[in-house]
Parts: sequence; C-alpha cells; structure tokens
Amino acid sequence: MIFRDPNFKIFYLRQTERTLPFANQQVETYYAPSGRKAIAKGIEVLNLKAEDNVLVPAYICREAIAPFRTKNIKVKYYKIREDFTFDRESLSQLTDEKTKAVVYVNYFGLSKEIKKYRQYCDEHNLYLIEDNAHTIFSEMGSLLGDILVFRLRKIYPIANGGILVVRKGVAHSVDEGGTLTTPRWRMDDCRFMAERILRNMYQHIATAPVNRLLLSVRENRERNDYLQNDLEATSAISTILRSSIELMKRLDLHQIIEKRRENFNYLLERLKICKNSSVQILFQQLEEQMCPLAFPLIVRRDTKHFINYLFLNGFVTYTWPHLPQEVMNDPQYAFEKFLSQNLVLLPIHQSMVHEQVDRMGAWVNKFSSGHERKH
Ligand SMILES: Cc1ncc(COP(=O)(O)O)c(C=O)c1O
Repeated sequence: MIFRDPNFKIFYLRQTERTLPFANQQVETYYAPSGRKAIAKGIEVLNLKAEDNVLVPAYICREAIAPFRTKNIKVKYYKIREDFTFDRESLSQLTDEKTKAVVYVNYFGLSKEIKKYRQYCDEHNLYLIEDNAHTIFSEMGSLLGDILVFRLRKIYPIANGGILVVRKGVAHSVDEGGTLTTPRWRMDDCRFMAERILRNMYQHIATAPVNRLLLSVRENRERNDYLQNDLEATSAISTILRSSIELMKRLDLHQIIEKRRENFNYLLERLKICKNSSVQILFQQLEEQMCPLAFPLIVRRDTKHFINYLFLNGFVTYTWPHLPQEVMNDPQYAFEKFLSQNLVLLPIHQSMVHEQVDRMGAWVNKFSSGHERKH
C-alpha cells in the first residue's frame, strides 16, 4: 500500500513542525514501505506500459529493477564511466521510440551529473527517474527528476520506509492512498528491535575472537542471501513499520545529515593513500546539500581481505550491489562487474565519533601502504 500526504509534510509522523526540504516545492509526496514500492508507484504515476522500455545504469542492484520487471517493462542497461560522469553515447545507443524514461542513480549520495541527464531527457522527450535511494537531500534546490525515490532506512536507523516525490504536472493518475499507522507490533518490529539491541551490545563485547566468529556468520549469511535473492521479491511488508515511525519521530534529520557530511570530510582528510596503492578514493568532494551514504573506495587487489581485515578491527564495510544476472553474464559490462566486486563502502554513519573515524582511517592507511598482516 502507498500512502499519500496531502500537506506534503513529510513524516507527518513528526510531531515537530519541521518538514523535509521539498515541502514547499511543487510536488506530491507519497510514503511507501520500501524503495521498491516507491518505484512501483512511480511507474504507475508516469503511466509506463508493458511495451515501453527504460534505460537503467548497469551498475545497479537487483532490487531497483524488480518493480520494472514485475510490470513487464523492458530494462536496457547503459554503461557507467570510470569517473561516474555522464556518458551521452551509452544512452544514445539504447534510446529508441519505445524508450520512455531514464533512471539516474545518485550513487552513495555523491553523484553530480543530474543536470546532464535532465538535458538528455528533455532533448528526447523522456521522463527522468531520480533514484535517490542512497541519500536524502538536505535542501531540495533543483528538483530535476520528474519523479524522485528515497529509501529511508539507508540513512535513518529504521527498519523500512520509502518516499516517492512527484513533480506537479507529471502525474497521470494519483490515488488517495491510505493511512500511515500500523495497528500493532509485529514480528518484523520485534526482530528489528532485537537486532538493534544486539548491535549496541556488540560495541561492548567486540574482541578479536568474537569478531572472528561474527565474520564466519556474516560470510555464511551473505552466501545464503545471494542464493535466495529473487528478482521478483518485493518487500513483503505492507506498511511502514510502527517502530520505524516511532524512531523517526525522535530523530533530527538535519543533525543526521550534518554529522554524516562531517564524518565523510573528516575521513577524507585522514586518508593518506600513496600513489601506487591498490586503494583509490573515488569521490574527493561532497556535493553541497547532499547526504552521503558511505565513503566509497576502489580496492583493486585483495578486496575480500581488505573487508575482512577491517571487520576484524571493528569496522563493517561492504561491496555493492548484487548485479542483475543479465549484467553479470554480459561481457560488455566488465567495468560494472569490477565495481560490484571492488568498490568498497566505508561507514560514515551519524553515530560514529571522530575517534572511530580516526581508527578506521589509520587501518585503511596501513592496508594501502601494504603494512598490514594477512590474517
Ligand atoms: C539504488 C537503489 N534503488 C532502489 C533500491 C530499492 O530499495 P528497497 O530495498 O527499499 O526496496 C535500492 C536498494 O537496495 C537501491 O540501492
């Protein structure tokens, strides 16, 4: 179910008067339980049909394309450039008379090419779908996409929640939606809460043997998740969890954004990566007004070792994403495959303090200079 907030007061959830930046813009805002559901609603709003196709970057997770597949809309994958800049040619090669929209992914809240995508879409009379699942804007200056999708649990410490923002005048069909509250606590709420309590406890018991045990659990789980990853499986949760709503009410979004930006810049200052290192910083700069999801590094060699090494020292890093099978199988997407295996995301979460960022930076520096011991 998708929820509509007629006053555009995001998190009307929130008891305070604060609203999200796009509150006063010419938009409609919908709430959904997940990013996928928000995209699915966006497809309806744009009136995309089974015979249409959309252009999606090949560096994408399976979850993001699931709504298109469910609605039988053809997905065509465009290539990503090494520096993530706009590549007109890769879009032009795929655009045909059945192309209706281009998906732009704001990777990790660090991309800055949206204007060029907007221009391309205007020239070809296409919709621009702005996938902001990795970020939440601190200011909505430009509002360039025709629809924008957000995924709240990437930034907030909550179990689920997504937002669809639709520019006024774009929508074909707008329904009235439903109500936001869930009547009672459910298993998902309990699981989420239990996990958070365990995570907090972990900070106090983190020792090398515990870390090693957790590492083996994590590796097993990842293998299973991968096997079970079903393209069609959209979120089973039908409403925004009550616990998500309760938590969001208590959090200050602007403080979260500021802290994440601060941690990003603080880490950037601390990293001393030598020229010939197998580790490389991908984004040297934060876009103004943007909330970063993580700090991406390219780790060209021993990536798994790098991830395990940081994990054993108390830092959870990961590669992203599980690519769609057709991208995995197609040799023309070798670079996207490389990224999915070698682009490592470092945490810059709002709960991290400088001392932790210092330690993480020091471990990365040690690794990049080749001075760490293999475990
Ligand atoms: C870029 C991108 N878009 C969309 C989604 C889908 O979000 P959700 O998992 O909340 O359905 C994800 C999630 O992994 C994502 O990374």
